[in-house]
Amino acid sequence: MWHFYCQNIIYGEDALDFLEKIKGKKCFIVTDNIIENLGYLKILTNKLEKFGKEYTVFKDVVPDPHEEDVMKGKEHCNQYAPDLIIALGGGSVIDTAKGIWVMYEYPEYTLNNLDPFNDQLYDFPKKAKLVAIPTTSGTGSEVTWAAVISRLQNNTWRKMSLSHMTLVPTYAIVDPVFPMGMSPKLTANTAFDALCHSVEAYISMWRNEFSNAMGLKAIELVFKYLPLAYKDGTNKEARDYLHQAATMAGLAFGNSQAHLAHAMGHSWGAIFHTPHGNSVGLFLRYITQYCLNAPGETNESIILYSELAKKLGWANWDDDNKKAAYVVVEKIKELQKEVDFISNLKDLGISKDDFDNNITNLVSLFFQDPSGVMAPRIPNKEDVIHLYQYAYEGKDVDF
Ligand SMILES: [Fe+2]
Repeated sequence: MWHFYCQNIIYGEDALDFLEKIKGKKCFIVTDNIIENLGYLKILTNKLEKFGKEYTVFKDVVPDPHEEDVMKGKEHCNQYAPDLIIALGGGSVIDTAKGIWVMYEYPEYTLNNLDPFNDQLYDFPKKAKLVAIPTTSGTGSEVTWAAVISRLQNNTWRKMSLSHMTLVPTYAIVDPVFPMGMSPKLTANTAFDALCHSVEAYISMWRNEFSNAMGLKAIELVFKYLPLAYKDGTNKEARDYLHQAATMAGLAFGNSQAHLAHAMGHSWGAIFHTPHGNSVGLFLRYITQYCLNAPGETNESIILYSELAKKLGWANWDDDNKKAAYVVVEKIKELQKEVDFISNLKDLGISKDDFDNNITNLVSLFFQDPSGVMAPRIPNKEDVIHLYQYAYEGKDVDF
């Protein structure tokens, strides 16, 4: 028996109009100041007013949300007592809303109760549905059962990946009107997050036919539409398909797991505060090489990456598997170049001293992050140090 968790996805132009069909009168909107300043909150509240729904707004979400932010949101939510919670924003907003959603249902909970083995959560939700409206095309949080929230431990902000199957939002409204205003840089960073989700899902130990289908299509769409959206952010077709790709990538990794690039990226982000998409996207080519270099002439990663290259038309069906598999690395590098994506840690402006002083901490955080366990090749401590060092210098991984 296997499962594929997927709630309701409404996508494409005017998807926001679906709000009229969702039962519920009192809406607790979770968002942030940037979304308000971009005018996106107004787009949503205008619709809610048109559809005769009441609302209140909690807009105190910050990037890389902390546990305290979720608890604060929970207090406001309890006071308002909504029957719909609407998350409007990027991954930080949607993740915060997931935390608030559960805490609203179970006021006695802390974030420690959000674990995959909590059976009580299978009765959830009774008080409110969660509607997730992504404004960036990357995190896939609108369809995943995970929330990344930071907690201060031993003077370091540790990113906790909280998860439970029932954390999948009740509705994902994937309307391309929202990502339209993203800058080229944000477009590239968030799309590389989606690319990481889909590639990592495709070679994960938990991969399955459903997640493979979503992952493959998402990779194809990111490669086709990211360069177009990067060059012209007003390209409606590119925005729409890139937005769909991010949701498909969310379904892929939400049902099979991301791994090494995310474990490395989470650890890096916790210390150096590089945006998530840039962190994980940066590590993608290095971990791809690392997986492909696993001992054995025909390791599983070579078969999988080769299959990927052949299905996407990057290699011929009769090409040698090893040769075809390494084409994926070159394709990732090409895409990075095309959208001016920072592809080594040095270019992020981190000094060598700063890097060296934090390497022990980076490795320690890497092994505390549960994301890495589904990788087809599990690195030891030395390999992780080398992977960070190679990524710092921008060197091809040769071990
Ligand atoms: Fe991610």
